[in-house]
Amino acid sequence: MTIQIFDDVRALSAELAAGVRAAVTAKPSLVLGLPTGRTPLPFYHALREGPAADWSQVRTFNLDEFVGVAASAPESYRAYMQRELFGPVGVPAAHVEFLDGRAGDLEAECERYERAIAAAGGIDMMILGIGTNGHIGFNEPGPYLHARSHRAHLQPGTRQANAAMFGGDAARVPEAALSMGMATILEARAVVLMATGVAKAGVVQAMADGHITTSLPASFLQLHPNVTVMLDREAASRR
Ligand code: GLP
Repeated sequence: MTIQIFDDVRALSAELAAGVRAAVTAKPSLVLGLPTGRTPLPFYHALREGPAADWSQVRTFNLDEFVGVAASAPESYRAYMQRELFGPVGVPAAHVEFLDGRAGDLEAECERYERAIAAAGGIDMMILGIGTNGHIGFNEPGPYLHARSHRAHLQPGTRQANAAMFGGDAARVPEAALSMGMATILEARAVVLMATGVAKAGVVQAMADGHITTSLPASFLQLHPNVTVMLDREAASRR
């Protein structure tokens, strides 16, 4: 893992935005894997506000989506992405791929997503956040992990962490989500994990320096040959 430490979130976000812009310039049909949550918001802001790039050929696959939430609902991750990035920078809707949490057959939907990623030639750059329990996407800690896209049961802490999108009410956060699996993530050609704030310091330290364990799904990133971990000083404070 290459660990980069920045003075603050702004510097981190500007650097990642510059890297993504450079990747889009080098490969206009770049295939991006993208996260939601609070951490990437300043990064999406930096992409919107910085120098323009041509997003017309870029294709995107988001990591996850809540089960039972319509793409059009403001709480959906799809709506978040439209607001924060796709709308402002102009990613054509036809190039945006999402797991559909309202699909009638969720298993078939996960299989469709895996086929779509393969048909796109795989993910060039997978950008991740990390949960305080070490989850990536919605691959939650447990006795085993899923290789492929799957229906995930969300732990209480994860629902609490997502409550802001549901009017601050964790009880309104769905108990299940669809998520890319660990192999889906680890097959990306490059992975970038962002973590900011002191609340992530412990999990970042365990992810980077501890054992590889299903109790901390992000620790599996140690197996990937091209991972960059971008931290602010607070998230790096336990290393
Ligand atoms: C959410 C998302 C993850 C995200 C993580 C951290 O539950 N499914 O993709 O990385 O939790 O969120 P945050 O950046 O708000 O701390």
